[in-house]
Amino acid sequence: MVSEKWVSLLLLLQLCWAGCGNCGKVLVWPCDMSHWLNMKIILEELTRKGHEVTVLVSPNNFIIDYNKPSTLNFEIVNTTSKEDAKKRLNDFLELAVNVMPTLSHWQSTIKLQEFFIQMVPYMKLLCENVIYNQTLMKKLKEDNYNVMFIDPVLPCGELIAELLAVPFVYTVRLSLGASMEKCAKLPSPLSYVPVPMLGLSERMTFLERVKNVMLSLILDICLQRYDAQYWDKFYSEALGKPTTLCETMGKAEIWLIRTYWDFEFPRPYLPNFEFVGGLHCKPAKPLPKEMEEFVQSSGEHGVVVFSLGSMVKNLTEEKANLIASALAQVPQKVLWRYKGVTPATLGANTRLYDWIPQNDLLGHPKTKAFITHGGTNGIYEAIYHGIPMVGVPMFADQPDNIAHMKAKGAAVDVNMNTMTSADLFNALNTVINDPSYKENAMRLSAIHHDQPVKPLDRAVFWIEFVMRHKGAKHLRPAAHDLTWFQYHSLDVIGFLLLCVATALLLVIKCCLFSYQKFGKTGKKKKRE
Ligand SMILES: *[C@@H]1O[C@H](CO)[C@@H](O)[C@H](O)[C@H]1NC(C)=O
Ligand SMILES: *[C@@H]1O[C@H](CO)[C@@H](O)[C@H](O)[C@H]1NC(C)=O
Ligand SMILES: *[C@@H]1O[C@H](CO)[C@@H](O)[C@H](O)[C@H]1NC(C)=O
Repeated sequence: MVSEKWVSLLLLLQLCWAGCGNCGKVLVWPCDMSHWLNMKIILEELTRKGHEVTVLVSPNNFIIDYNKPSTLNFEIVNTTSKEDAKKRLNDFLELAVNVMPTLSHWQSTIKLQEFFIQMVPYMKLLCENVIYNQTLMKKLKEDNYNVMFIDPVLPCGELIAELLAVPFVYTVRLSLGASMEKCAKLPSPLSYVPVPMLGLSERMTFLERVKNVMLSLILDICLQRYDAQYWDKFYSEALGKPTTLCETMGKAEIWLIRTYWDFEFPRPYLPNFEFVGGLHCKPAKPLPKEMEEFVQSSGEHGVVVFSLGSMVKNLTEEKANLIASALAQVPQKVLWRYKGVTPATLGANTRLYDWIPQNDLLGHPKTKAFITHGGTNGIYEAIYHGIPMVGVPMFADQPDNIAHMKAKGAAVDVNMNTMTSADLFNALNTVINDPSYKENAMRLSAIHHDQPVKPLDRAVFWIEFVMRHKGAKHLRPAAHDLTWFQYHSLDVIGFLLLCVATALLLVIKCCLFSYQKFGKTGKKKKRE
């Protein structure tokens, strides 16, 4: 008996040990807010599998709470005060909620870029506090990390990875900046891959394709990455050789994309791209008792879930009243995540909550529709549970996200700035009462669930792969080593044109020569 126990204990120990034979160390460069929620799921899965995860974090983060007990290690990097950061966040929200919806996609992109350029000094300070802090860099070097896991929205992660000579993996929402795709050398044929900001779908009319090509050229020539010029200089100084932000980003071993083919339009991609959208989605858990009672009280009409995300806390009084009066007209019960002052027009069917268990609500059988700002995390929860959406996009990738869902027939969009109560009411009525929206949402859900390997497992697999093989260079396209004119074969086209031109010239010369010669000899003969 005793020996049996010992044997099983030994076996168990061996299993643990063998399980940890491949354990490695992961250094993380995160981004705050909703991006972190997504990243954290991957990090927790990594620690569960025995890897050691260290997150570089500044004290003025809003939701990365490093004081809470956690399986993750945190390395605190000093930067500006939290008050400063709060002010910048408020400026951003003011811009995002009250200014950007009044602008065209194109104008709001430029506004967003201007904002990011204003942010450069703060981002630079944070970066300098890491790379120019000898003590910290020495410590990080001695820790011998196997891989860095980076959210590139905030530059610097790739620079740290280069300085530490550690391979790195990205987590991104593709087409957040079209320039990111360019750094990865992702082929994007403009005839059917829309440039993100226009809200176009994969099937474009002739004029839309003209728009698409023009915008792509403008982005290429004038804008590149909004703040690239600042970062190119900074990266060159830090690495002691001329380089660019884009070139450094292009060194990523694997790009984990926060979407999947239930969301994306089919398009070419590269072998070092892995689409892991919806990895945070889970089956719904039971609701809190009081909330469940409210949901059940809706009867056969069901409920509507409404959230503008974690960043938007309050709206103008006018807008909140307009929204509340639209919601008051539907026969459904409405759960609205809202922290602002209670609107005067709030109906008896609508309840406000500081926070809602969004995933559990979307997975509830009574839920009929989701009113969303179009953040990627929320959209994926709706896809996972097959819930049709009304999109009220505001900034960044949100208009593009809603455009995708609209093109797939699972959403109706409403313009946050120009909408009337009737617009919102009609949109909500359409997605609830026109059965095609529910059918399309269910179809996307079925596609999402029918994958050979779950997105979270694939994300973790590729990070572990990079640790095991010290990179994934076999997946790296040679395009990175070409100049832009070689990449587009302009040199070859030029050469071939030259050949044709030379051949033509020769033929013409020959013709002229023979005409002159034989023409003359002919004349001569006649004379003779
Ligand atoms: C952190 O930064 C603040 C403001 O930038 C500065 O006042 C403080 O001395 C710094 N703390 C450390 C430990 O460097
Ligand atoms: C440099 O990093 C060390 C270790 O993380 C930290 O204790 C120190 O305060 C940092 N120095 C500055 C000037 O931020
Ligand atoms: C939202 O609330 C903050 C303070 O809580 C206030 O400063 C801001 O003006 C409000 N925004 C709107 C649009 O009402």
